[in-house]
Amino acid sequence: MPDLRPILFFDSGIGGLSVLAPTRAALPLAPIVYAADNAFFPYGVKSEGEIAGRVPVLLGRLAERYRPRLVVIACNTASTIALGPVRAALDIPVVGTVPAIRPAALASRTRVIGVLGTDATVRQPYVDRLAAEYAADCLVLRHGSAALVALAEADLRGDATADAAYAAVLSGLLDQPGGDRIDTVVLACTHFPLVADRLAAVAPRPLHFVDGGPGIARRIVHLTQGQSWPATAAPGIAVFTGPIDPAPAFAASLARFRLERHERL
Ligand code: DGL
Repeated sequence: MPDLRPILFFDSGIGGLSVLAPTRAALPLAPIVYAADNAFFPYGVKSEGEIAGRVPVLLGRLAERYRPRLVVIACNTASTIALGPVRAALDIPVVGTVPAIRPAALASRTRVIGVLGTDATVRQPYVDRLAAEYAADCLVLRHGSAALVALAEADLRGDATADAAYAAVLSGLLDQPGGDRIDTVVLACTHFPLVADRLAAVAPRPLHFVDGGPGIARRIVHLTQGQSWPATAAPGIAVFTGPIDPAPAFAASLARFRLERHERL
């Protein structure tokens, strides 16, 4: 009997698609449920208490409904605040998404790294610990941007977004003291890899962008080693806590990630 249990991805919106994509490439037969807490979007401007109170309960409901084999919190904000409580609440493996400071420190030549995340993520002690542990000899500059989250959502929905808006986000990082020496930028919000090409296009010099998606995909492959998968790939399910965006371009974008069924929680 094939194991039909899905992998459940969770984010506030569409950002987790940047983690789903490399996972799909590695595990093409994995049944997928992609949950977006769009009723409470955006997470990055919420308090620690709001996120820590909401995410474990919501994932408990989702786990009960979809019976996943593994949960991926494909959201840096939720992971850096609520990974511990979610793990305590669920009796299945939970993979989190934390800023890719380690690979960035390995790659940086100038030893000046930028961390671009949400406001909530960049102020977390979790980020201090990652910087101290993996980038102690680097200057780590941080910038929180709710604007870039909104730009990524708009882009996926098919709305036009202006180059100047992406340039303004990058300036928030590069214009800080020492920012002129940044050579590596951690995309510490899962929304951001979806618009990395737009950031690269307006960057005043070549920057190396790093995100956690490929590493998380490898971790999922490792944790599911030896498990069976259905013989053919089933359509993925996208589940929303709020109203489903009716824009045809939105549905088309989800279909590119093979999320063909849409549901409300
Ligand atoms: N995609 C999320 C993250 O990785 C959160 C974006 C938001 O809702 O503010 O942090």
